[in-house]
Parts: sequence; structure tokens; C-alpha cells
Amino acid sequence: MCRFIFLLLFLLSLSQLLIALSPRRTLLQNATVSSPCPLKFDVLRRLAPDSKRPNLDTRSECQYIRQGLRLVQSEYLRLTNSFLPPFESAESCWDAYESLVNEYVSNFNIRSRCGFQTPWIARGCMNITTRSEFEAAVPPSALDEVAAACNQSLLNSSPCASCTTSLSSIQASYLPGPSIGNVSDCTAYPFIYAAAFSNHFGPTDEGTAKCLFNLDFTSSNSSGKKKKKIVIAVVVVICGVVLLLGFSGFWLLRRRRARISRRKWNNMRSDTNVSSGLESISASTTLIRFTFDEIRAATKNFSRENIIGKGGYGNVYKGVLPDGSEVALKRFKNCSAAGDASFTHEVEVIASVRHVNLVALRGYCTATTPLEGHQRIIVCDLMKNGSVHDHLFGVMGKKLSWPTRQKIALGTARGLAYLHYGAQPAIIHRDIKASNILLDEKFEPKVADFGLAKFTPEGTTHLSTRVAGTMGYVAPEYALYGQLTERSDVYSFGVVLLELLSGKKALIAVNDGQPTLVADWAWSLVRKGRAMDVVEEGMPDLGTPEVVEKYVLVAVLCSHPQLYARPTMDQVVKMLDMDVPVPSIPERPLSLIANIDDIERSVSSSGSGHLSTPAGYQPYTFEEQDLSER
Ligand SMILES: *[C@@H]1O[C@H](CO)[C@@H](O)[C@H](O)[C@H]1NC(C)=O
Ligand SMILES: *[C@@H]1O[C@H](CO)[C@@H](O)[C@H](O)[C@H]1NC(C)=O
Ligand SMILES: *[C@@H]1O[C@H](CO)[C@@H](O)[C@H](O)[C@H]1NC(C)=O
Ligand SMILES: *[C@@H]1O[C@H](CO)[C@@H](O)[C@H](O)[C@H]1NC(C)=O
Ligand SMILES: *[C@@H]1O[C@H](CO)[C@@H](O)[C@H](O)[C@H]1NC(C)=O
Repeated sequence: MCRFIFLLLFLLSLSQLLIALSPRRTLLQNATVSSPCPLKFDVLRRLAPDSKRPNLDTRSECQYIRQGLRLVQSEYLRLTNSFLPPFESAESCWDAYESLVNEYVSNFNIRSRCGFQTPWIARGCMNITTRSEFEAAVPPSALDEVAAACNQSLLNSSPCASCTTSLSSIQASYLPGPSIGNVSDCTAYPFIYAAAFSNHFGPTDEGTAKCLFNLDFTSSNSSGKKKKKIVIAVVVVICGVVLLLGFSGFWLLRRRRARISRRKWNNMRSDTNVSSGLESISASTTLIRFTFDEIRAATKNFSRENIIGKGGYGNVYKGVLPDGSEVALKRFKNCSAAGDASFTHEVEVIASVRHVNLVALRGYCTATTPLEGHQRIIVCDLMKNGSVHDHLFGVMGKKLSWPTRQKIALGTARGLAYLHYGAQPAIIHRDIKASNILLDEKFEPKVADFGLAKFTPEGTTHLSTRVAGTMGYVAPEYALYGQLTERSDVYSFGVVLLELLSGKKALIAVNDGQPTLVADWAWSLVRKGRAMDVVEEGMPDLGTPEVVEKYVLVAVLCSHPQLYARPTMDQVVKMLDMDVPVPSIPERPLSLIANIDDIERSVSSSGSGHLSTPAGYQPYTFEEQDLSER
């Protein structure tokens, strides 16, 4: 009896759905007449047969839509050898996609909600539109490497990791072009290509879709039914059949109970309790969630001899994944499960940021174990040559040559410029220092630890410990007022660049009394016209004085105490790399270290302070709340 009523209601709801959809259908047909869209969005409907979709906020919805588009493009590429639909069909392609999306989320106008412009769907990376153009841009050896890593089922994390790692290096090495909008850009191209041609299962395979486009259709069947039940429940309410209200209440209860038991089971099974709302999709295309057992196996159960670094946040371990690749694992200490959702989100954002000068995040793990408590671990590629700090101040012996230092400076600047302007959303590193710039086997620099500063214990009591601890790297406005912008990173970069040029540490120890900032010391030389005296003596293969001096001037400009005197990272790259002249350096009003006590005192008594006295400098407002947060 019960079942019969539900069946009836289900049919009713179906007919209502059809009615609701029909005008859209005709609209679509109209558009099709004028300029047909060759993309087959139906692929997505086939993969997610029911209205099985997590409820997402707009940002995640847009990401989901973008990933879905890439999958469709990949299928199109496989069939037609073309990445992009013809330009004239851009309008109708958006309409077609929108009508599909609206079957899942009502009234979602893709272009206006996600900020996508109409032509973007027909524009790609560096004017590459066909398979042969892509293969001309990327050498065959690199594509062979991709095929070797990606021509297998990508359902499990380990093969997926090898595949995505080889893909992201392609983008960094051969497709450096700027993004055109954010629909399909150079980052996405290798993934679109690999799903179409390198993986013989093709883009519509569940494992491929999950690994390369982060669209998880594997767990679809059970939840699909659930959604149907929701539709029925809605109809019940609309019809206003009072009698059935009782039924639906009973039913909701049942559904909830089922969900609760399912969740319990999930927790038991994975031994984790991430409460992220994005379980089935995530922001990045490449992130892997490792189980605690996998991590334990990789590090020989966190063996002491695997420790390669220690910090306030915890230890860094060396490890080997089952596929033989070496990784660095950063294990945060004293975490509680409470922050996991934001941690997971942050890690996913970070993982979506890929650049040749940024350390690639492979994956992460959050778990609660009976013995060791709550665990948070991130997994990155291992860098063979340690950090810039090791080479400048450690026991590495040989002095870095000028060409190597130049490469490190430029690469670091590029990595940071990408964080600030290439990543979406922009990421402020907050903790740039020589020990956070790692070097691979070819001495290509890789910026590490971006975006994670807020999860380290230092991050919470930033003001006191950071100013005392790594004083010299932190921009004055950030240290004093908690004012955090991209330009705080520029300051820290300037300090690292000075260390690299002078071989002196951020804080130069002076025999009598207070140490001096390397930035102040360098400025004192530059203003006397002795910029070359900043450069370390006996540096092998020193470049021409003009070039070396330019580097010194850029470093001094970046480490200017005034926020607005500093260039942006984009400008820094241009100045270091091209013939862009360095602007004249504004006078520095005060030596920071000598006056820091005075400034702090005046700030805490008056509630606001000026970083510097002369006119034209911005006063910074001091907000108590801000500081305690950081
Ligand atoms: C549908 O097509 C007609 C002509 O065939 C055109 O006048 C009308 O504007 C089109 N409607 C839409 C919504 O594209
Ligand atoms: C895409 O870029 C536009 C502007 O370039 C921006 O407004 C929009 O938020 C971006 N959308 C997504 C999903 O990142
Ligand atoms: C792409 O093509 C346009 C015109 O067709 C041209 O102006 C532009 O320079 C090209 N870009 C690249 C990266 O080749
Ligand atoms: C991938 O493997 C299949 C068989 O496993 C083979 O037929 C196909 O040619 C391979 N593709 C590439 C690109 O290597
Ligand atoms: C989901 O159901 C379809 C048939 O309805 C089946 O072909 C597919 O294998 C199922 N997927 C999973 C992951 O169980």
C-alpha cells in the first residue's frame, strides 16, 4: 500500500519535472539551429544518471562545472582531435551546458554566477587548438613519460599520483602561456590530453574522471536513490495532502537514520572524520588523500632515521611511496579534529596551485588513531638538494656560483608571482625565508610551505614568536600591525634575495649590542653608491656589474620598510629577467630595529601608529582583534 502511493507520487513528480524542463528544451533547440555546439554534454548525464550531486556553494559549484567541462572537452578531443569547439558555437555550448546543469541546480546561470566570459569556452592555452599542435609543443619523450604513468586504471591513489605528477610538470615546462580566462587554461590542457590519448580507458572512465578531473562518479548509485526520495518528499508537501505529511515525516526519519548509520560506517571504515562538505569532489585536480596506514608504511612507522627536518609545527619525514617515488611528509603536531574542515579545504586549494617553482603537494592525510591521537600530514615531492639556507649558511661547503644564485632568485620570484597572480584564489605565503626555498637536483628553486602558515603553532601566536624568531624576514607592517598583503611577501623575498647576494643572514650579528637587519645594512651601502659591496666576496662566475647591481637594487627595493615603495612580484620578475629598469629607491625614514620598541610602545598606547613620519606614508590602523587572531 505504502509503496503504491510512493510510486504514484514518483510518477507525478516525474511529469512535473518534464513540464519544468520542456521550455528549456525548446530554447536549446532554438540555439542549436543558429550555431550548433559540438560538445557532448550528455556524457556527464550518463555518468551521473540521477540527480546525484552534492549541494555546493557557488564557488565549488563553479569548480565542479569547470571540471565537468574539461571532461567533455577531453571526450571531444578524443573524437575529433580538437580541444575546443568552434568560436561561433561558444554561445550555444554555454546554453547547452547550462540546460544540463539546470537539471541538477535550478536557475544556475553559469556565466554570470561563475564569472566566465562567453568566448572563453572556445579559447584555450597558447593558441593550441588541435592534438597535433599540442604534440608539437610538448616533446614526444615527455608524452611517453605521461603514457607510462597514466596508461593504467587511475582509480587508486598511487597510480593517480604518478600520473598527475608527470602531467603537472608538462604544464610547467612546455605550456608557460598565460591563462585565457579561467575556463580551460594551460594547467588543464595536459589533463585533457592525457584523458583523451594517454589513458586507454578514456575520459569517461570512472577512475580517469576521478583522478584527472576530480569528478567522483564511483559512489553514485546509492545516493541517487536518496535524491529521488527527496523529490518525492517535496511533491508531498506541494500537494498539501495532510495525511501524507505524516508519512513523509516518518520517511524523513528513516532516511536520516539510514544516513547516520551510513556515516558511522564510513567513519569506522576510513578511521577518519573529515567533516568537509566536499567529500566526493574537491577543488584540485590532483590531490590524493592517503590513509594513515599508507603514510605509516611510507615512513617506516615514522622512524627516527627518516626525519629530515624539525620545526615548531612538527617533524618532516622522508618517505617512499609504493610506486617508488620519494616524498617529504610534514606531520603537524598537537592538532585537534576540530580544524580539519578548514585544513582540508586549504590543502585542496594549495594542491590546485601548480608551478615549476612551487613544491608540488601530492596529498594529505587526516586521521585519528587510538595511540597517537589526531593526525594531520601533508605529502610533497622530496627535494634532493635541501634548502637555500643549507647552501648559504650550512655545511654544504662549496659556494653557490652566480648563475646558480641568479636562477634561484628568478625562479623564486616566478613562483611567488604565480602564487600572487596566477593562483585562484591568490595565496599570500606569509613565511618566505631561505629555509623554505628548496632546490631540486638541477638547483631549480621550489617555494615550500605556502598557505600553511596559519596551521602551524607559530601561526597562532604570530606576533610574539615570529618577530622574535625569524625577525628580519617579516615585513614591518605585518609584524607590527598584522597588516597582511602580497607586499609582505615581497619584503620577505627581498630579504632572501639579499641573503643570496651577500651570503649574510637576515639578521647580521654585531659584536656590540643589537643585531642589524641585512636590509638596513644593504641600504646603507646602496645609498652611498656602493651597491657592489653588498655582494659576497669570492662568488664563482660573477656576472657583469650592471646585472649584479640590478639584483642588489631590486633586493633593496623589495625590502623597503614602506609598503608602497615595494614593487609587485610581477614587476620583480620583469626587472630581474628583462631590461626593465629599477625605479629609484625612496629614502628610508628609519632604521627599523633601532626604533621598534618605540613604535610598539606608541602603538599600544595610542591605538594607531605611523610606520614612518614623512608625509605621504600611509598610517596603519591598529586593531587589537586582528592581532590576537594572528
Ligand atoms: C529563436 O530563433 C528565432 C529565429 O529562428 C529568433 O528570432 C529568436 O530570437 C531565437 N530565440 C532565442 C532565445 O535564441
Ligand atoms: C573566473 O575569472 C573571473 C574574472 O577573471 C572571476 O570573476 C571569476 O570569479 C572566476 N571564476 C572562478 C570559478 O574562478
Ligand atoms: C594567438 O593568436 C593571436 C591572433 O590569432 C595572436 O595575436 C597571439 O599572439 C597568439 N598567441 C600566441 C601565444 O601565440
Ligand atoms: C595503453 O595500453 C593499451 C593496452 O593496455 C594499449 O593498447 C595502448 O596502445 C596504450 N596506449 C598508449 C598511449 O600507450
Ligand atoms: C551503478 O549502477 C549502474 C546501473 O544502474 C551500473 O552499471 C554501475 O556499474 C553501478 N556503479 C557502481 C559503482 O556500482
